[in-house]
Amino acid sequence: MSFPTTSVRACAKINFFLGVGAARADGFHELTTVFQSLSNHNVVRLSPASGPAQLGEYVASVSASGLAARSVPLDASNLVVAAASRYLAEVAANHPEIQLPVLDIHIHKGIPTAGGMAGGSADAAAVLHALSDYAPLPRQRVLEIAAELGSDVPFSLVGGTQLGTGRGERLVPMLSRGTYHLALGIQKQGLKTPEVFAKLDEMRAAGKTAEPNTDTSALATALVSGKPAAVAAEMHNDLQPAALSLMPALRATLAAGKDAGALCGIVSGSGPTTAFLCDSADAAEVVAEDLRDSGTVFDAFAVHTVPQGIGSIDT
Ligand code: C5P
Repeated sequence: MSFPTTSVRACAKINFFLGVGAARADGFHELTTVFQSLSNHNVVRLSPASGPAQLGEYVASVSASGLAARSVPLDASNLVVAAASRYLAEVAANHPEIQLPVLDIHIHKGIPTAGGMAGGSADAAAVLHALSDYAPLPRQRVLEIAAELGSDVPFSLVGGTQLGTGRGERLVPMLSRGTYHLALGIQKQGLKTPEVFAKLDEMRAAGKTAEPNTDTSALATALVSGKPAAVAAEMHNDLQPAALSLMPALRATLAAGKDAGALCGIVSGSGPTTAFLCDSADAAEVVAEDLRDSGTVFDAFAVHTVPQGIGSIDT
């Protein structure tokens, strides 16, 4: 069987809660985080290549369209190339009878690039999902490959509402009731995740910011209440002071969202995307519109929580 063209939808995430512990010997920080899949997503299409492999052994080309597509790397540094290469190398080693494809990979972006919403991780997860349909590997091995690709890739593959520990790659499902509505504030410039973590270490060493907050119990209770105000009261991000220090203009965005009626606003992950929890879908639309009018964002739109992070699309 030759590889069939496959499209996969992979959702954005926010961290309703992000507790960051000390840096470990390997440079990563020990996290206690509550991941949540959101409705905005990328669509990744894998098709048999029309030309030779140029990006590693299995990928001929990477192309992109959609939201800020010009900032997507189209060379071997794109995580989709490493995802395809690692997955297919493992299939080659274990199943020499399977005919392996060379791929053209197209990414249609609905998740801001370098925005703290795991857009690159979603793309990598989409590739793993598509390839595991064609040439299955044991689920545990797919999750291990995901973790080798990046700390957020396992969550992008699993999706929903999950407690993440370790680098964020160890996941346990959490209960959540109902659908929560948010407005997202998008910035033109991205923030580099390692720089945000390094800034937090620096601020902690100088005694300029609080110690890690790793207690997710109140948020866990709030999520099963189904009440947006209860969830809003427990949302938290240890990385926020570092992101604000690197991009002080985000303070004005957070203030604009609150003025527009959001229940709460936080920086999403390492930023600079800001996420505003709202009472309803209509309220989220109003907050997004007011954010656009405020001049403090490049763009803003309303999204909602979804129970699954990834899925194949019938073409
Ligand atoms: O795992 P990933 O490649 O997404 O991580 C990007 C960078 O973010 C790491 O190189 C590290 O600087 C930082 N990071 C961290 N602790 C984590 C996750 C990421 O310090 N748990």
